[in-house]
Amino acid sequence: MTYSRIVGTGRYLPERVMTNFDLEKIVDTTDEWIKTRTGVERRHVVEPDQTTSDMCVEAAKKAIEAAGVNVEDIDLVITGTTTPDLIFPNISTIIQHRLGIPACTAFSLEAACTGFIYALTTADKFIKTGDTKCALVMGAECITKLVDWTDRNTCVLFGDGAGAAIVVPSDEPGIISTALGADGQYKELLYYPVGQSTDLAKAGTDEANIIMQGNEVFKVAVKTLGAIAQEALDKAGVTKEELDWLVPHQANIRIIQAMAKRLNMPTEKVILTVQDHGNTSAASVPMALDVGIRDGRIKKGQLVLMEAFGGGFTWGSVLMRL
Ligand code: UT7
Repeated sequence: MTYSRIVGTGRYLPERVMTNFDLEKIVDTTDEWIKTRTGVERRHVVEPDQTTSDMCVEAAKKAIEAAGVNVEDIDLVITGTTTPDLIFPNISTIIQHRLGIPACTAFSLEAACTGFIYALTTADKFIKTGDTKCALVMGAECITKLVDWTDRNTCVLFGDGAGAAIVVPSDEPGIISTALGADGQYKELLYYPVGQSTDLAKAGTDEANIIMQGNEVFKVAVKTLGAIAQEALDKAGVTKEELDWLVPHQANIRIIQAMAKRLNMPTEKVILTVQDHGNTSAASVPMALDVGIRDGRIKKGQLVLMEAFGGGFTWGSVLMRL
């Protein structure tokens, strides 16, 4: 049986940092409110001329270097994002070309904040069939470009960034189990109202803003994340007590704490980046994973549970040994 294994990770965060105190100057909010209700203290924000592929290229270079592979080895590129550079060509082809990766399978997928979990799960399946020998998998977002900076309900939450992982076949797991889900009945609770075939004329107007019923999203997120984490554990026959690390989607410290409690995991076993990154949507999980690996906390052979939840709603989890 062939498994897939992450052998290198990388992340990129834009240089510009916006603190809660900066936000106090532009909307009716306080550092205290943002910190207590969300856990966010600062976030990185792209420049107007910076694109999602710019960030992905930098994150990917670090992952490639960490993995010790050559760009010529890569034969699959998948990017989870809702903010691609263009509608087409898809962002993975842009990244493939910019990195000098030879022509290969390259596509992007949209699953909002669950984008990386969906992309990693897809790469896992490509590798298990024998079709892929080396995958570059990314989750990246210029989500602040969708934000209305006059709306305190949403602008305090988000940040930009990119995370990348190199995934290769392995005799031993690696990825042990994956679980994905989605239910479009929740669309109205969290969505962006402008698309290429929907109300395109609203682009650039006040109406082009992330629409979210935060409280409702919060409730479904806690319930669904608990179930999807358990599903990955059950599929693998692993108990929560065996977990070494939880690498959660970084939307809100209170959601993360609820998840950690459900899994009986102390804070020391949870990788937290929400305070520094904010909610970076699809980039959140791969960047948190990279933080935990690079600072030496997540060690080779340890059991890691990643989970995410986002617009759609979409949700998913991946259980793996590093
Ligand atoms: O990543 C995709 C998934 N997304 C999520 O998981 C987000 C889930 N939801 C959340 O994280 C939280 O619901 C929020 C952080 C978005 C909001 O926190 P909350 O505790 O649910 O606050 P709320 O929306 O119930 O608002 C409470 C009060 C309201 O005032 P009133 O009506 O009680 O007078 C808001 O107007 O807080 C007010 N408020 C703010 N006050 C200061 C909302 N935003 C702000 C703000 N600063 N930035």
